[in-house]
Amino acid sequence: AIKDIKARMVLDSRGNPTIQVKTVTEGLGLGIANAPSGASTGAHEAVEIRDGGKEFKGKGVSRAVENVNKVIAPALIGLDSRRQQLIDRKMIEIDGTPNKSRLGGNAIVATSLSVAKAAASTMGLPFYAYLGGYVADTLPVPMLNIINGGVHAGNKLDFQEFMIVPAGFSSFKEAIKAAVEVYADLKKILKEKYGPQAINVGDEGGYAPPIEKVRDALDILIQAIKAAGYDPWNQVVIALDAASTQFYREDKGVYVLEGTEYTREQLIDFYEKLVSEYPIVSIEDPLQEEDFEGFAEITRRLGSKVLIVGDDLFTTNPARLKKGIDLKAGNAILVKVNQVGTLSETLEVLKMAFTNGYRAVISHRSGETEDTSIADISVGVGAGLIKTGAPARGERTAKYNRLLEIEEELDNPRYPGFSALLRKP
Ligand code: PGA
Ligand code: ZN
Repeated sequence: AIKDIKARMVLDSRGNPTIQVKTVTEGLGLGIANAPSGASTGAHEAVEIRDGGKEFKGKGVSRAVENVNKVIAPALIGLDSRRQQLIDRKMIEIDGTPNKSRLGGNAIVATSLSVAKAAASTMGLPFYAYLGGYVADTLPVPMLNIINGGVHAGNKLDFQEFMIVPAGFSSFKEAIKAAVEVYADLKKILKEKYGPQAINVGDEGGYAPPIEKVRDALDILIQAIKAAGYDPWNQVVIALDAASTQFYREDKGVYVLEGTEYTREQLIDFYEKLVSEYPIVSIEDPLQEEDFEGFAEITRRLGSKVLIVGDDLFTTNPARLKKGIDLKAGNAILVKVNQVGTLSETLEVLKMAFTNGYRAVISHRSGETEDTSIADISVGVGAGLIKTGAPARGERTAKYNRLLEIEEELDNPRYPGFSALLRKP
């Protein structure tokens, strides 16, 4: 049973306050989890509670901390820590709002994860095994964001993330080695071409060079992959997060990309050309967050070989995923526990995705901490895919390092490689 739940403030990777929750059980289990925080947040996410006012520039979390310590903890202490659904339901009930705005999505998500980790610890199991049992043997293929744009960087790139996907390898360790080598060659190439300022990094550890055009970023990725000695069609391929809500002009109903206005149809044509020219295996949020119809159209056109991933579109929300499934909008979902707010709702979304033939990418946020829960979740649910930034900056490498550890711990680890994707080498 849960003996104690305690919240406190810690800092995230952008230097903003966030909430850490520590759960202790009677069986001497201990679970610690931190809430991450997005920058390009979807309109339908669970909302964070922040203090406002002067301190921490309005970003303090003392109200969220108090909600855990004074409201949530008394309601959960004494319950069996393994009863995750009951625990999450209790928090949802006490909150009583559709977007967790009373207790705070940040307070709820950190509590939900810390209780689950305490239960795992009580049972003497690593978190991934608690979630997935001994069938949890599959490492995820990582999508590593090595060129940052959009709201994550101070450059003029409209697309938010240019990722490399080391799929053509037979272990996670080899995949990470390839990614690290490409990242190093990219640094060298960027420095030679654009000068030393080009190797400053953005929020997720990728470089933020003064590149303005999508194609120029893609060309330089290909160059780096080749320079590192890898094949860009068969070993290290490419994924994009356009995060297009950020360059959509709602008033005019158009996208403004590289200074030019695009209709939805023109933008889909643009993606189609990119997919025919580059080894792109995945495009996240190609269209703005309310455009289910547009997602259905691009899925019809590209969905047989490219993952069309809904992040802001679905916000890890069962009702929104259901709508997507009905309309055949997208063929994959980005899964962020803090978008929906609890572990059980996240597992519900994952189950819905898998039973309906959708792929799932377990994801970090741009504002992260040293918390590694998502690494364990990706293995525990057998997602096959994870995106957690560049192979640099502690809050990103913590997840990769945890996955390296898990791979060594497993008796028969599997690395799905291209089978996690639709486009084959
Ligand atoms: P965010 O970005 O964490 O800033 O929302 C990540 C993403 O869009 O995938
Ligand atoms: Zn995204």
